[in-house]
Amino acid sequence: MLINGKHYQTIWLNEENNQIIQVFDQRFFPHKIEIFDIKNTDDAIFAIKEMVVRGAPLIGVTAAYGIYLASLETQVRSNPDKYIEEVAQKLAQTRPTAVNLVWAIKQMLTAINQGESVEQKINIALEKANDIKQEDIEICFKIGEYGLSLIKKIAEAKHGETVNILTHCNAGWLATIDWGTATSPMYQAQQAGIDIHVWVDETRPRNQGANLTAFELNQQGIPHTLITDNTGGHLMQHGMVDLVIVGTDRTTRNGDVANKIGTYLKALAAYDNNIPFYVALPSSTLDCSIADGITEISIETRDQNEVKYIQGKVDGEIKSVLICPETTPAMNYGFDVTPAKYVTGLITERGICDASEEGIRSLFPEKF
Ligand code: MRU
Repeated sequence: MLINGKHYQTIWLNEENNQIIQVFDQRFFPHKIEIFDIKNTDDAIFAIKEMVVRGAPLIGVTAAYGIYLASLETQVRSNPDKYIEEVAQKLAQTRPTAVNLVWAIKQMLTAINQGESVEQKINIALEKANDIKQEDIEICFKIGEYGLSLIKKIAEAKHGETVNILTHCNAGWLATIDWGTATSPMYQAQQAGIDIHVWVDETRPRNQGANLTAFELNQQGIPHTLITDNTGGHLMQHGMVDLVIVGTDRTTRNGDVANKIGTYLKALAAYDNNIPFYVALPSSTLDCSIADGITEISIETRDQNEVKYIQGKVDGEIKSVLICPETTPAMNYGFDVTPAKYVTGLITERGICDASEEGIRSLFPEKF
């Protein structure tokens, strides 16, 4: 998608040196657009853990390139296979909730094992990471096409009046490689000439909505309004939301959805107000090995300072501001789980299905 009118993806190989992976440093959006070089596996681990990159699909692709870098590093290691395994374990532990991370690592390890020499493994690793990246772009595009059909129906029912969509966190192109998951239907609706407006939850504590989703929509010229995380319920009660679309970090086989903390409350409010609540996801986010999201999905807890401080731009500089007494303890759960019963449907690259085992099985039988 666009930044200052120019098309970008979120991750790419350095043009002069394909042993350097480059990403936007998402810690500083929208105030500073800075590129972060991932030159080795330590950088890849840092980038995921510290949220230089974030969003389930982008985390997965970054880990895939991390394994490619590990394969390069084996050139000076006495036991290459053991080394790659060690890096894979470290990468897998960086962020526990998004299942795309372990999914991508497994894909990479399976592919690499086909190679015999170190050189072969390096070539396979690069090719596989590139494939996973390319596949994500195509998947997000397909999600957009299916999601667009929902928006079209609402626009028709409203006789062309603006369709108001609410989203939480950033499941946009910055969380993927291009298009995004929750945002892909929005971008495609814009291209189809449908009048849409997006309510953007700020998404405390790290404000991915305010910093990233608002940035994306602004760059793309999609009408949007930033709201505090507590506002959605009020808007829904007053007929100001037609549709909710969010992303997910892990969806279980019975359709429970883990996503950014606060998603569950939006789903409850949508349910109470009869507003369709859809979750957009690539199949790499399905975890059919587990059924009950509430008890079985590992929820990341992060540093309490992310709650106690807010980052923003002050006098042209990015600064952090303390918002509570210094000694007040804070709790920072990164994600919550929305039970399947509150999810109207799952928008995937193969179509829209019920958030249920039957629904998921009908589109992805190979996942069971
Ligand atoms: O903590 P983050 O910023 O990685 O959380 C991101 C989300 O919760 C997204 O909604 C999710 O990863 C889906 S991204 C297509």
